[in-house]
Amino acid sequence: MTENMKVAVIGQGTMGAGITEVFAKAGFEVHAVDNSEAALERGRSIVAKSTGRAVSKGKMSEEDQQAVLDRITYFTDTAQAVSDCGLIIEAVFENLELKQSIFKTVDEAAPADAILATNTSSLAITAIAAAVSSPERVVGVHFFNPAPVQTLVEVIRTVFTDDAIVAKLVELLKGLRKSPVVVNDRAGFIVNCLLVPYIGSAIYLYENGFATREEIDKAMVEQAKYPMGPLALADLIGNDVCLAVLEKMYDETKDRVQAPAPILTRLVMANMMGMKTGRGFYTYEGGKPTEDR
Ligand code: 3HC
Repeated sequence: MTENMKVAVIGQGTMGAGITEVFAKAGFEVHAVDNSEAALERGRSIVAKSTGRAVSKGKMSEEDQQAVLDRITYFTDTAQAVSDCGLIIEAVFENLELKQSIFKTVDEAAPADAILATNTSSLAITAIAAAVSSPERVVGVHFFNPAPVQTLVEVIRTVFTDDAIVAKLVELLKGLRKSPVVVNDRAGFIVNCLLVPYIGSAIYLYENGFATREEIDKAMVEQAKYPMGPLALADLIGNDVCLAVLEKMYDETKDRVQAPAPILTRLVMANMMGMKTGRGFYTYEGGKPTEDR
C-alpha cells in the first residue's frame, strides 16, 4: 500500500520537521507545508541540521543526506500539496480552529482514500474529525520529541474512525521502525496523561523553592533512570506545549494535579518556551544549556 505513496506534513515547526525527516529517511516523497517561506526555511534547516549531525558522526553519507533532502518538496499551498498524497499528517500549533480549518481544506483536496492524521498533543481528535465530511478517515498520530529518535507513536481512534484506517497506519508506522500503540481519544492519551502531570509537579517543587532545578532534574535522572530530568524535559517539549496539555487535561478532569503552576504560565507569557526560544527553566546556546540562572 505504501509503494510510491506520497506523504504531506502540514506545519514545519519542531514536530512537523521531525516527522518530515522520519518519512523522507524511510524513502517517501514528502510534501512539507507551512504558511510562509520563512516557516518553510525554518523546517528545512531543522532537517538539514539533524541529518547533518548524522553525517558528521559518520552514521549517514553525504549522498544519502542529499537524497533525503531531495525527497522533500516545500509548499505554502495546502490544497496543492495534499492533492496526490496517501497520508496527510497535520502538525501545526495547538489551536483547534486552525486545525479544523486545515482539515476542511485537506478533506476536500486530498484523494478520497487518503488517511488524514493529526499530531496534536492535547486537542480532542474527535473535535477535529467532527469538522470534516469524512470523519471515518481521521485519526490521531502522536509522535514524540525528537521525532527522528523516539520510537513510540500513539495512534488515536475516535468513535468515527474506520478500523481499516487504524490498521493501515499501524502497519505503515511499523515499516518506519516505529513502535505504535493504539489508544482511544481522551486528553493526554497515554504518555502525556502520565508524563505531563509529573512535569507539572516538578514545576511546583521548583516554584515553591523546595529544591533547585538541577537537584530536581538530577534526582529523577539518577534514581528513576529517565534520560533527562523533568524541567529539562519541559524545555525540550516546549513550555507552551506543556501548558496547553495541562490546561486541556485540567479542563477535562478538573483534577488539581493537572492544574498548571503559575510560573509555567508566566514563562509562556514571557516567550520563555525552552530550547526553541533559547530560554525556559534553563538558558540555551546552540541547543545546549549554559550556566546561567
Ligand atoms: N533531532 C534529531 N536527532 C536528535 C535530536 C533532535 N532534536 N536530539 C538528539 N538527537 C539524536 C542524536 O543525534 C543522537 O543520535 P545517535 O544516537 O544516532 O548519535 C541521539 O539522538 C542521542 O542524542 P545525544 O547523544 O545528543 O544526547 P542524549 O543521549 O542525551 O539524548 C535525547 C538526547 C534523545 C533528547 C534523550 O535525552 C531523550 O530521549 N530524552 C527524553 C525525551 C522525551 O521524553 N521525549 C518525549 C517528550 S513528550 C512529547 O514529545 C509529547 C508531546 O506531546 C508533549
